[in-house]
Amino acid sequence: MSDKHRVVVVGMGKRGMHHALAFQANSAFEITGVCDVDPDRLAAAAARLKPAVQGADALDVALEAKPDVFCFCTLPQLRANMIRIGIASGARLIAMEKPIALSSAEAMEIRRLLADSGVRAVVSHQHRYGEHYRKVKETIASGALGRIHTVYGAASGWMMHLLSHLIDYLRWYNGEAEAEWVMAQAAGRGKLSDAHPSPDYIAGFIQFANGVRGIVECGAGAPDVPEVDYWWRKCRIGAMGAEGFAEVLTGGGWRTVTKDRVGAGPGSMNYDLDMPPYIQDIANWLEDPAQVHPCCFESAYKGFEIMMALCRSAAQGGQVALPLSEGADELGLLAARLPHRQVLLSTPANAKEYA
Ligand SMILES: NC(=O)c1ccc[n+]([C@@H]2O[C@H](COP(=O)([O-])OP(=O)(O)OC[C@H]3O[C@@H](n4cnc5c(N)ncnc54)[C@H](O)[C@@H]3O)[C@@H](O)[C@H]2O)c1
Repeated sequence: MSDKHRVVVVGMGKRGMHHALAFQANSAFEITGVCDVDPDRLAAAAARLKPAVQGADALDVALEAKPDVFCFCTLPQLRANMIRIGIASGARLIAMEKPIALSSAEAMEIRRLLADSGVRAVVSHQHRYGEHYRKVKETIASGALGRIHTVYGAASGWMMHLLSHLIDYLRWYNGEAEAEWVMAQAAGRGKLSDAHPSPDYIAGFIQFANGVRGIVECGAGAPDVPEVDYWWRKCRIGAMGAEGFAEVLTGGGWRTVTKDRVGAGPGSMNYDLDMPPYIQDIANWLEDPAQVHPCCFESAYKGFEIMMALCRSAAQGGQVALPLSEGADELGLLAARLPHRQVLLSTPANAKEYA
């Protein structure tokens, strides 16, 4: 029997294929099972990946293929149940897509399931492997910006698509400091019924325990990033310090201004470049428990908790203290409270999604 880590991938859509091909390209892994409820997608994936096991039922495939890594890349409506299947399969590690859940109640349930079983999990916030994202991190860590007072992130895409990415990277830029409270506003009901259900626009503040202020905006009213043409990559994430700033544009490189220099460089989010190191870090964590994956579930949970607290604040008003102690259905809270008014746009380019 091979000594490679056995991998099952469930959900052979865009991201499932990205994951499967990146696992297959890494000599530490072999794909032993694939699953999709769509027969055409399943057949196409099986023809390319040649797994020992294939099928439409994730539990059946996982129990037969006995994976070390259970990876699922389904849309956000399927999370806690896939975690249960991954644990039942005997996998040592679950690799999943963002967002980790659709509510704090579900996220807390998933966290409890993982803690009780001892199964590790990683969440695909893989943009951070981009050279431009890392350049900004290096600049902040070098001290060239002086004392950091603000970290920020903005994206034109809506919350369940992009806000967990923004928060993950600004937490990273802020040394993974704990958040103490948040306060937010939201507008627009159009995307509440989307497959990535969200307010059309949400904007808020985060108080971090190290005194740094976080500022996030996601959706229709977020400021345009005119340097980037591709709409989904109109994201700006960065840090401001006493002596300068550094920021990454998801589709437009990096830039920094410090008292010594004005600098800029290339980089654009690229799955082909970002997935291999993300997958390699899974192998490293499996082989050495001390090499905790930078995208571990616990880190993603803290980001998701901030996102759900922002939703609670937008729905109920005032500041929301962290960590959250009780689970809630934040999208339900927003659906009950968001005004029935058309969201206002920051740029005509947003009309195609939010008009
Ligand atoms: N990390 C990133 O950069 C990034 C980028 C895009 C999307 N995503 C996330 O990836 C996830 C998947 O997005 P996508 O664009 O690949 O979606 P997709 O629709 O292309 O693929 C989802 C697949 O899951 C299958 N599926 C649905 N229910 C299933 C079930 N019960 N069992 C097995 N298969 C099932 C569907 O048939 C489909 O093939 C989403 O959560 C999305 O937010 C992440």
